[in-house]
Amino acid sequence: MKNTGIVITVATLKGGSGKSTVASCLAVHWQQRGRRPALIDADPQRSLLRLGQREKALGGVPVHETGESGADIAETARRLAAAYDAVIIDTAGFRAPSTLAALAAARLILVPVKPSPLDVDVMLDTARTLFRTADGGAPRFYCLLTQTTRDSVIARHIRSELAAAGFPLLDSELSNRVAYGEAALFGATPSLMAPNGSAAAEIAALAEEIERLPETRR
Ligand SMILES: Nc1ncnc2c1ncn2[C@@H]1O[C@H](COP(=O)(O)OP(=O)(O)O)[C@@H](O)[C@H]1O
Ligand SMILES: [Mg+2]
Repeated sequence: MKNTGIVITVATLKGGSGKSTVASCLAVHWQQRGRRPALIDADPQRSLLRLGQREKALGGVPVHETGESGADIAETARRLAAAYDAVIIDTAGFRAPSTLAALAAARLILVPVKPSPLDVDVMLDTARTLFRTADGGAPRFYCLLTQTTRDSVIARHIRSELAAAGFPLLDSELSNRVAYGEAALFGATPSLMAPNGSAAAEIAALAEEIERLPETRR
């Protein structure tokens, strides 16, 4: 049987949590390591498509567009998964119908959360219903802390809050670093701009943790 690539959807309940950053950083990292990733931009804001048009063009990772309704997401994801190792879908947020299609198409869902009590409250309020409806089975989503400050009390507090609420949370974090925004200016990610830097190292650690998840190893 032909092996198909993993489809990863990045979705959050709050804007500005770092979805497009996580999606682009993972894709570029895997591309740099000789894998074959593809991106699907399911956000009408078209952040990834725009990044792909800037100078560094996301290191050559292809970015695929979908229609506003999301009706073509499942088909696009399936087609790309047959040809690529990883298909990463960036979404608009939960209110968009296209996001539901992107969630349904995913084998793994990543939920970036900023370590702010307000962000976490929004997440806890709505996540259960949204995440459990998919197939009622074991959760295949993982929260990921982004824009964290090193050793902050609040991040630690939120880690324990999420754990208590039964939300799977990745050990890896993306910290708050200017390198992410600066790289985006050039249509790049830290792995392209400064492959030996601290941001590239935390992206690599995140990618490796994802590679070890049961959903990925299948
Ligand atoms: N780890 C980080 N450190 C610093 N800035 C970040 C980080 N992640 C994202 N940002 C910045 O925060 C803003 C929102 O991130 P973005 O990925 O566009 O979020 P979303 O796609 O969820 O709206 C952008 O300006 C981005 O450059
Ligand atoms: Mg975005």
